[in-house]
Amino acid sequence: MFIGPFALANSLFVAPMAGVTDRPFRQLCKRLGAGYAVSEMVTSRRDLWDTLKTSRRANHDGEPGPIAVQIAGTDAAMMADAARYNVDRGAQIIDINMGCPAKKVCNKWAGSALMQDEALALSIIDAVVQACASSNVPVTLKMRTGWCQNRKNALAIALAAQDAGVQMVTVHGRTREQGYKGAAEYDTIAAVKAALRIPVVANGDIDSPEKAREVLRRTGADALMVGRAAQGQPWIFREISHFLDTGTHLAPPLVSEVKRLLIEHLHDHYSLYGEFSGVRTARKHIGWYVRALPGGEAFRQEINALEDSASQVAAVAHFLDRLNEDMDRIPARVSATEAVHPHAGSALLTTHNPDPMEMAL
Ligand SMILES: Cc1cc2nc3c(=O)[nH]c(=O)nc-3n(C[C@H](O)[C@H](O)[C@H](O)COP(=O)(O)O)c2cc1C
Repeated sequence: MFIGPFALANSLFVAPMAGVTDRPFRQLCKRLGAGYAVSEMVTSRRDLWDTLKTSRRANHDGEPGPIAVQIAGTDAAMMADAARYNVDRGAQIIDINMGCPAKKVCNKWAGSALMQDEALALSIIDAVVQACASSNVPVTLKMRTGWCQNRKNALAIALAAQDAGVQMVTVHGRTREQGYKGAAEYDTIAAVKAALRIPVVANGDIDSPEKAREVLRRTGADALMVGRAAQGQPWIFREISHFLDTGTHLAPPLVSEVKRLLIEHLHDHYSLYGEFSGVRTARKHIGWYVRALPGGEAFRQEINALEDSASQVAAVAHFLDRLNEDMDRIPARVSATEAVHPHAGSALLTTHNPDPMEMAL
């Protein structure tokens, strides 16, 4: 699988998630089998580029390439500027966000709202492709199936984007109107895949090896992208890879491995965010790791009361050591979307932040 000149390790991608897929988490996912990761979105607002939040998002220290940066905004010239700015700072691929069910950026609707205004969407795509052309940086696009049930225009936008020079399209199988409700739908992704020459990536509700195989079968996509199901279980990528390659399941990780991975993740996280912010923003990751483990909910409450990194790490180590006395491996997780009530919502596929675009500011 290639994006422009870049050969990817495999066709299993971790989805960009604002507030989640920071450099430490992306690196962990890549170590555990993700072939590609896009950074959290960076706003096209120049006045926000020097903020701590944006500079953390632009941190790619030690990250294996290609370095892909996602940009979001509503103005073609500003988006072109944002693309150039990120290319100058090491981005090797620029991804345009038309996927977030976002509220407002620059007092206008951005993200998937752009799908409502095809002319504006295409002017942005054109401007970004042109801005990246002189440095030979491929531009990719992430979108939803459309604005609403009656206006599923992913195919039209994808075809126009391909003509404009976009080199890969990712489709999340929901409309803007749906937010994260209901189940992802794969027929539109299949139609986009069938019509395009460039690689098409399928995204939405992939939360188990079986679901990954099913989405591949139904869409014929060139690659799969996993978002929420990777929260707290970054090893899902190696589990899916193994299943797709062999048709058999990899055993869940040893509790001792989870302990090692989580503690390494925490140290890397503190090193990016510092002690104060690091401890607070690590809580959600710890919560995701432990949510499906026996005693996980009570432990999550306990963790939320701890205010320094040393006690956070010690508590995690203690919790997992105690668990290891009862079991060698963590219990296998049940697929949320393949459960008995497929549309009932799930404890494992949570949005955590229903308006991720706000977090970009
Ligand atoms: C917390 C959170 C933050 C997100 N942030 C972004 C983002 O910055 N850019 C983007 O294109 N999509 C973003 N998304 C959407 C995901 O990339 C993905 O399309 C969506 O979660 C569906 O995939 P999933 O069912 O595997 O989670 C975000 C989703 C979540 C849950």
